Amino acid sequence: MNNSGLAVEVSKDRNGADQILLRNPRGASAKVSLHGGQVLSWRTDRGEELLFTSSKAIFKPPYAVRGGIPICFPQFGQRGSLEQHGFARNRTWIIDENPPPLHPNDACGKAYIDLLLKPSEDDLKIWPHSFEFRLRVNLTADGNLSLISRIRNINCKPFSFSIAYHTYFSISDISEVRVEGLETLDYLDNLYQRERFTEQGDALTFESEVDRVYLGSRDAIAIFDHERKRTFFIKKEGLPDVGVWNPWEKKSKAMVDFGDEEYKQMLCVNGAAVEKPITLKPGEEWTGRLELSVVPSS
Ligand code: BG6
Repeated sequence: MNNSGLAVEVSKDRNGADQILLRNPRGASAKVSLHGGQVLSWRTDRGEELLFTSSKAIFKPPYAVRGGIPICFPQFGQRGSLEQHGFARNRTWIIDENPPPLHPNDACGKAYIDLLLKPSEDDLKIWPHSFEFRLRVNLTADGNLSLISRIRNINCKPFSFSIAYHTYFSISDISEVRVEGLETLDYLDNLYQRERFTEQGDALTFESEVDRVYLGSRDAIAIFDHERKRTFFIKKEGLPDVGVWNPWEKKSKAMVDFGDEEYKQMLCVNGAAVEKPITLKPGEEWTGRLELSVVPSS
């Protein structure tokens, strides 16, 4: 721990993968695994867990952990021969000891860790593009969690990708939550072969399976949890789209790494860039930011 009370500790999980615990002076914390570069826990200063992880999650490669914030790259969804949601969430990342500098605001007063993913020879066989994916995970003095991704093309040809922070929020009960910030937007509905619809309601509530990508959203979204009396805020930059997913009853039963009733306690709301893939020329870098905060509500 340094003088400001910010702490960064590295330890091993039960499968031998390194995990990093970030703590701020008030006692809020976040846990990040090198398996998938995945945030697995985000807790308030009262120790309340804010992210959902399934009791049946499998913590072993090649599975991505069912919970936390898996990073979907180089694709979100399933197209072509590349695996669903890409391979970044299944790979072992390394700690980036010497990352190129970020803006001082992205470090000052924060507990943070920098991770790096580069493709292996096998990855290049399935996606033939050399890249460096740098991820900074920040925990602020207020307990906010931010993820800053920098993806650089180190190829000699351009490449395109889509990306999502597949965030599993922990909620009291799916029938008690409401999402604001997506009203009037067009969305692609994965339950109808990605057909395009327009959101009609004032806010999104849940009564059955939802699997959508909202297009071109504003940069702030809120999830109100009435029963638990708390509201999550999602702020994003460079991530125009928002995936919303709840598998509901039937799909829950079909997933080996998810409890039959757990759909009631989770909601995925994902900052993403999906509809218009991002193209990087050789040497170019893209930056995307997600910041999550939570406040008590009445
Ligand atoms: C959502 C997709 O984002 O992720 C769903 O839109 C998918 O179609 C879900 O079922 C979970 O995906 P996975 O690969 O983690 O089981």
